[in-house]
Amino acid sequence: MVGVAGGESKCRLVKEEYGLDACVDYKGGNVLADLRAACPDGIDVDFENVGGDTDGSGAGAHQPGARIALCGMISTYNASGDWWSPKMFRNVIMKRARIEGFLIADYRSRFPEAVEVLAKWVRDGQLKYQSTWSTASSRRLPR
Ligand SMILES: NC(=O)c1ccc[n+]([C@@H]2O[C@H](COP(=O)([O-])OP(=O)(O)OC[C@H]3O[C@@H](n4cnc5c(N)ncnc54)[C@H](OP(=O)(O)O)[C@@H]3O)[C@@H](O)[C@H]2O)c1
Repeated sequence: MVGVAGGESKCRLVKEEYGLDACVDYKGGNVLADLRAACPDGIDVDFENVGGDTDGSGAGAHQPGARIALCGMISTYNASGDWWSPKMFRNVIMKRARIEGFLIADYRSRFPEAVEVLAKWVRDGQLKYQSTWSTASSRRLPR
């Protein structure tokens, strides 16, 4: 599993604390070359939250038959004019990849189930996270 984050300290956290195999620093180096180096066999599943230059499909970095859950495109939200990654679609063809939009609201009926399971994972140490917006939220986890 390979993460993408901004800065050396975040990438260190991703690997050492969260246990991912590698992390690409999108603020340093060449993101797409680094993604390819981190995934020498290609990306088989891409949970895409950023889009734009960080999108692995732009470099043809996916494996043939790759699956892409398109959740967010944060790098493009403040761009002026129409913005999309045209290279992406060319490579979707060449890689016979599948893209599906992911919307959290579709799973609203399962939120209570998710809170229960995720809270257990946090308590058991299986799921680690840091929050910079509120420490109060972690106090609301069910016991
Ligand atoms: N589909 C859904 O149902 C759904 C629901 C909620 C959110 N989302 C999407 O999920 C994504 C994350 O949302 P969030 O609420 O977690 O946002 P957030 O807490 O504000 O985190 C966004 C992170 O994205 C990174 N980022 C910001 N600008 C970037 C850029 N130009 N290029 C690359 N990375 C950049 C930053 O990482 P660093 O700090 O490491 O630089 C930042 O910490 C967004 O794309 C959002 O639209 C989707």
